[in-house]
Amino acid sequence: MTNFYFAGVDTVYLANKYKTPLYVMSENIILDRIREIRTNFLEKYKNTEAFYASKAFLTKEMARIIKRENFGIDIVSGGELYTAMEVDFPAEKIIFHGNNKTEEELEMAVQYGVGRIIVDNLYELSLLNHITKKYNKKANILFRVTPEVESNTHRYIQTGQLDSKFGIPLSQGIIFEAIEKALNLPYINLLGFHFHIGSQILHNKNYKKAIENTIKLMKEAKSRYGFITEELNIGGGYGIKYTDDDERRPISYFTDAAMEEIETNCSKYKLKRPKVIIEPGRWIVGEAGITLYTIGSIKRIPGVRTYVSVDGGMTDNPRPSLYQAKYKGIIANKANEEATEVVTIAGKCCESGDILIWDLKVPQVEAGDILAILSTGAYNYSMASNYNKIPKPAVVMIKDGVDRLIVKRESYAEMIKNEL
Ligand code: LLP
Repeated sequence: MTNFYFAGVDTVYLANKYKTPLYVMSENIILDRIREIRTNFLEKYKNTEAFYASKAFLTKEMARIIKRENFGIDIVSGGELYTAMEVDFPAEKIIFHGNNKTEEELEMAVQYGVGRIIVDNLYELSLLNHITKKYNKKANILFRVTPEVESNTHRYIQTGQLDSKFGIPLSQGIIFEAIEKALNLPYINLLGFHFHIGSQILHNKNYKKAIENTIKLMKEAKSRYGFITEELNIGGGYGIKYTDDDERRPISYFTDAAMEEIETNCSKYKLKRPKVIIEPGRWIVGEAGITLYTIGSIKRIPGVRTYVSVDGGMTDNPRPSLYQAKYKGIIANKANEEATEVVTIAGKCCESGDILIWDLKVPQVEAGDILAILSTGAYNYSMASNYNKIPKPAVVMIKDGVDRLIVKRESYAEMIKNEL
């Protein structure tokens, strides 16, 4: 009987030591991904920058790792900003996104001196102008544009199409009104444009189209207003490997194609190539995480299906129920045993849709076995909820074969501490 090892550590040992459900992250994988971005993008192309999209996975320790690696961070809320501030994350290396930043959030960002604010709409532009004036501080901004392309991913995580809540459309003239306004506001420093077409993208076709459309806007802004785009932020969304059906894509698969498209279009329109910024989230942390569960009840419906239930579910991983996301699972304490049956891994929530994996091939399973689900490092901990009053799991980080707790398991008392 051989156990499943992750990041050089026996996962059954981890499950016993920290209990389940448990998120386990590998710092070495995170560092490898960062290094790959540094070597194959930042050092390969001059005048580029990378920001980690912290919505994928953010804790104070994760913010410290990103800070130590000298990467920037992309945030979308006061809470993410607060987490970064708690570890003294350098303000100039923070980008603030979001389609409805509140006045309080913008004040917090302006006071802290956040490096870039991605302005999503005209309402935000005037709100931000009012705040910058109040604090007598200039804000560096980029406009988020809707590049009007579809991305090849689940509808819920597409963001580049015209019918989207994010950004200013390219085709309807509002973008020019926005540029003109921004150029005339004394406390606003417009630096360029940003788009993000969606998440878990595995093909470049529409990404390249989005680049082409945005560079056409750069050309138009130059000819209408003499505006020179200094920065082009091409978002994140780079897809990862979840199951054996997926292929792992190196960062250069996306960034080489993007840089080529940028160079081609800039020279076509005789534009200076702006600084290019990328914002990968999932690509950095997704495959760096797994979740461990303990198997409990097993329900066999002869001729229909076998439900194998675990001690977590949609509360720690809502992605299968939200996006029909697929995952790979391994019975950690029977890693080398032959798979003899097909089962469905169910969560413990009061929802029929709380299924983590449909039709997983496993060896003979029994209560007490440990299930490891792979590639859960992105958008699992960050989207976890307390539905059914289930406490959030602990998070363990592993570096060089040594495990350390980075987030304590939530207790029942902590879960209800704000309830009066
Ligand atoms: N930049 C912007 C402006 C974004 O909106 C996002 C993700 C990213 C970067 C990073 O995308 P990534 O590289 O992580 O794919 N909860 C969904 C994903 C939502 C992504 C939202 N924005 C999921 O679990 O698939």
